[in-house]
Amino acid sequence: MDLKSHLSLENLDQNRQLFRKYDVPAPRYTSYPTVPYWCDSPTAEQWYASVERSLQAQDATWSMYVHLPYCETLCTFCGCNTSITKDHKVARPYVDLVLQEFDSHLRRSPRLTQRRLTQIHLGGGTPTFLSAEELHELVSGLYRLAGVKPGQSDFEGAIEIDPRRTTGQQLEVLRRLGFTRVSLGVQDFDPETQRLVNRIQPFEMTAHIVRLARELGYESLNFDLIYGLPKQTATSIRQMMKLTIELSPDRIALYSLARVPWIKPAQKLFRDEDLPEGAAKRELYEIARSELLAAGYREIGMDHFAKPNEALSRAELESRLHRNFMGYTDQRTSVLLGLGVSAISETQDCFTQNEKVLPVYERRVQSGEWTVFRGHRLNEDDLKRRRQILELMTRFEVELEDDAQLADVSEFLSELERDGLIEFDGRILRLKTQGRAFLRNAAMALDSRLRAQAPTTKVFSSSL
Ligand SMILES: C[S@@+](CC[C@H](N)C(=O)[O-])C[C@H]1O[C@@H](n2cnc3c(N)ncnc32)[C@H](O)[C@@H]1O
Ligand code: SF4
Repeated sequence: MDLKSHLSLENLDQNRQLFRKYDVPAPRYTSYPTVPYWCDSPTAEQWYASVERSLQAQDATWSMYVHLPYCETLCTFCGCNTSITKDHKVARPYVDLVLQEFDSHLRRSPRLTQRRLTQIHLGGGTPTFLSAEELHELVSGLYRLAGVKPGQSDFEGAIEIDPRRTTGQQLEVLRRLGFTRVSLGVQDFDPETQRLVNRIQPFEMTAHIVRLARELGYESLNFDLIYGLPKQTATSIRQMMKLTIELSPDRIALYSLARVPWIKPAQKLFRDEDLPEGAAKRELYEIARSELLAAGYREIGMDHFAKPNEALSRAELESRLHRNFMGYTDQRTSVLLGLGVSAISETQDCFTQNEKVLPVYERRVQSGEWTVFRGHRLNEDDLKRRRQILELMTRFEVELEDDAQLADVSEFLSELERDGLIEFDGRILRLKTQGRAFLRNAAMALDSRLRAQAPTTKVFSSSL
């Protein structure tokens, strides 16, 4: 991609005006409808019927996300569903619960055992809160129930790790079980920013885990980084990129800090004057982006980067890029089954989310109840808009359905068009290269549920 044609660091004044103008609360569109708009929850019978329907084709595949909520300490920026404790005795019973939950799904949806499981993703919280033995027990238990053999070539195991709480033993156990992907929580290397977010993680600690993972033969290493954290500046972001490039991860997720203090009170500890906001915040992304492009990474979607030969890059080049609750991915399956507290599942026409409160989730699994606390059955209009928003989020362009939708969307986005950020080519809505920063704003034009009923309370973080 052309470095200069992006909404770049040139014309800063003009760009700052645009960032100010379009900095509004906006969904990240990891689903459509977005979670606050789910309104037609399926019953357990409807949900399992939907799983069976989605896996009807002989060659249908499915993937699994397992949520492991525990962390030893709270990073004050964190927006994830976590349970903070130093008591590691809670881990083993939780492993049992997850396996029990999975077993009950298998009994109610036989096609899960008849179709190929292509990916297990362990996320959190902190999956490496579990000891090496507990990780082994969890993964081998899932394999046994799902009929996966360690090292199977058409299967991918991925884990999110916190370098402060990861041992060589844990990485070794997972590698032996055939895991090939590791995602390291890095966030920022700057000691002052780390202090302000309660996450001290020296560079050498991250470098050590990177070396270990490579020695063990992990194929793909990802870094999670965040822009918009306290005290980040142009200089500190350049340094963060320099150190990142030095460690050469295969993939990078560069997330915008989702600031939702009304949901995550620890974020109230930040001082407003320390936080880069709006235009200043977006500039940090632009700086990081140009450093990464100069180092040979490709920009994928709105906040990911990957080496050109990496799976995410290949998926993008081959128009196979997908987006789900975990963000951009090269894995697209007919069913995503979420296990564990607060985990989200997705079929071809339904979403569900497990209980978000840990003791309630535990009680429900133990008593053999269905663990879901909310969900949504997509109607025809939802299905169309889900497809369109997915297309826009992954390809930066989408073909609108008819002239009526074209008229509606072009009226809604007239300002973005006047500002030269989007264009219409027949019925195709396209983000111009300089408009990529406004992807979430453009996607809102396709979101009829949000447009029909704007939220009356704060539910989404800022669009930039
Ligand atoms: C479950 S954590 C990763 C594993 C492990 N807990 C760790 O922190 O190293 C998932 C990632 O979500 C991102 N994240 C968490 N809260 C966020 C927020 N409020 N805004 C943007 N990204 C956030 C962080 O980059 C974090 O690494
Ligand atoms: S960022 Fe990771 S380690 Fe920190 S609180 Fe959130 S989930 Fe836990």
